[in-house]
Amino acid sequence: MRDPKATNIVWHQTSINRTDREVLLQQKGTVIWLTGLSGSGKSTIASALESKLYQLGKLTYLLDGDNIRHGLNTDLGFNEKDRTENIRRIGEVAKLFVDAGVIVLTAFISPFREDRDSVRRLIGDDFVEVWVDCSLEICMRRDPKGLYKKAKKGEIKDFTGLDSPYEDPENPEVIIKSHEQDIEVSVNQIINYLEF
Ligand code: ADX
Repeated sequence: MRDPKATNIVWHQTSINRTDREVLLQQKGTVIWLTGLSGSGKSTIASALESKLYQLGKLTYLLDGDNIRHGLNTDLGFNEKDRTENIRRIGEVAKLFVDAGVIVLTAFISPFREDRDSVRRLIGDDFVEVWVDCSLEICMRRDPKGLYKKAKKGEIKDFTGLDSPYEDPENPEVIIKSHEQDIEVSVNQIINYLEF
């Protein structure tokens, strides 16, 4: 929502637009939005997907939850309001990248359906929701960062899947069963959807 302080602002039309940039890059600006529990494999899949797209000659940029929280979103925590703001900002950043003609890959838990749907509305047809669907039990067993263990001991509160909800996507474009298949298969599933 626009801050009441942001008044007297006029949108400038630029001389080079998104279509010009897409023609130059020979690709279409797209957002590939990975959502899923912590430890489900989002970052790993996003990174492997980025390598594959690079090999295919595509210009990409990966926005990853943990990394973005070291910079742009360092002021945000994990309560509901902060998570919503986290996703809102990422949606806006992704929109800028799409306007630049870039294929943006995002790896955020993004646990709330309404927040993901807001980004979908913001981006429009070029939004691809990918649900990295891995059960809580498996994510807890994997626990790559030891965070579930900490959360269970009460050292982290509002932990997704434990004392903070994860709302399953209802109509994602791609569903990846990350615990049932190799990373390469998951990557190909997304590439096939994109029809490159
Ligand atoms: S989101 O819910 O706002 O989308 P985001 O993807 O940015 O989350 O960050 C999730 C990462 O932050 C997790 O992978 C984990 O490493 C770390 N983290 C720290 N505290 C929490 C928490 N309370 N719940 C979930 N993840 C947490």
